[in-house]
Amino acid sequence: MSKPLTIADLKTRARRRVPKMFFDYADSGSWTEGTYRANEEDFSKVKLRQRVLVDMTNRSLATTMAGQDASMPVALAPTGLCGMQHADGEMLAAKAAEEFGVPFTLSTMSICSIEDVASVTSKPFWFQLYVMKDRDFINNLIDRAKAANCSALMLTLDLQILGQRHKDLRNGLSAPPKWTVHHGIQLATKPFWCMDMLRTKRRGFGNIVGHAKNVSDLSSLSSWTAEQFDPQLSWKDVAWIKERWGGKLILKGILDEEDARAAAESGADAIVVSNHGGRQLDGALSSISMLPRIVDAVGDKIEVHLDGGIRSGQDVLKAVALGARGTYIGRPYLYGLGAMGKAGVTTALEIIRKEMDVTMALCGKRDIQTVDRSVIAETRF
Ligand code: FNR
Repeated sequence: MSKPLTIADLKTRARRRVPKMFFDYADSGSWTEGTYRANEEDFSKVKLRQRVLVDMTNRSLATTMAGQDASMPVALAPTGLCGMQHADGEMLAAKAAEEFGVPFTLSTMSICSIEDVASVTSKPFWFQLYVMKDRDFINNLIDRAKAANCSALMLTLDLQILGQRHKDLRNGLSAPPKWTVHHGIQLATKPFWCMDMLRTKRRGFGNIVGHAKNVSDLSSLSSWTAEQFDPQLSWKDVAWIKERWGGKLILKGILDEEDARAAAESGADAIVVSNHGGRQLDGALSSISMLPRIVDAVGDKIEVHLDGGIRSGQDVLKAVALGARGTYIGRPYLYGLGAMGKAGVTTALEIIRKEMDVTMALCGKRDIQTVDRSVIAETRF
């Protein structure tokens, strides 16, 4: 098989290797999936200025995100069930990110636990927190993230209740899960995936089972999670979590200028302009189209990051040009993981780095730190 050249190539391979219900879980948005599509499509509405006869030697993509060195302005976004794209998925992705020199963010809803990931990495990673009603559990997670030397806590704000994803419901990925003969058929047709899964014991939610009160197996887990997301989450909760954590705090899921101003006042270190990859409020604007407004509102007060729809290094460059200090990829690395395990995550990062580097040069820039709105010809949002 030839080497994947694009993120779309990795997606095609992942579709072949991963059972449909888990591939669909990654490749889905809420309701009509309009916002999911807009996240990707709106990048093509940003046009770049082509420049010539400028010195393009000695280029650098290196930067920092929330104080952490990054070999390029890209981090791996937190993704739940990452370990169902490939056995031990979070551990593999964390190692790939570490070797590549970019931050990795572990989701609360991961298969491998905080301790699993800490056991295979030597540099600090980031931990993403969902605020559950069970505050003892939240305190426990924060303490475990500290003990694992996590260097930033990312608090996700846009999932107080769950946006409905039709594909997941049709595939029986609900709480409680509905297993049917179709799942058996899906698994039977993906033997390589199944063989990998048989080799690992990590198949449940590693951060939750055995740590949250009365959650000891899959069935108690599914009823627990179904009622644990907290619809009453407020800025006061952000304040106590910030205090309890005491380190770098990143607020994820900001898509509105007013919320961005409140986030800047909260004392957090960074915000992520994000609509959860189009998985929550279908009908919301794309992340890239909201970025300039949010940067104009708070860019001088707080570091602004972006995720949603990045499928190439060119997309990263456009986001940086519009004011993002850094970006995150979700599905691109999940496709890589599903397709080829750790090597697939590295391939996704390599594809993005190469495209970003060449795009930056053709825009007449040598250092990502100097990329600003001057490289944009026009935006057509
Ligand atoms: C996510 N996302 C997410 N976000 C979060 O804060 N905690 C989580 O557990 C998850 N889980 C999750 C699972 C899957 C399968 C996807 C695709 C996404 C959202 C994620 O962090 C990020 O915002 C989006 O993935 C970014 O969009 P792209 O890069 O996937 O287009």
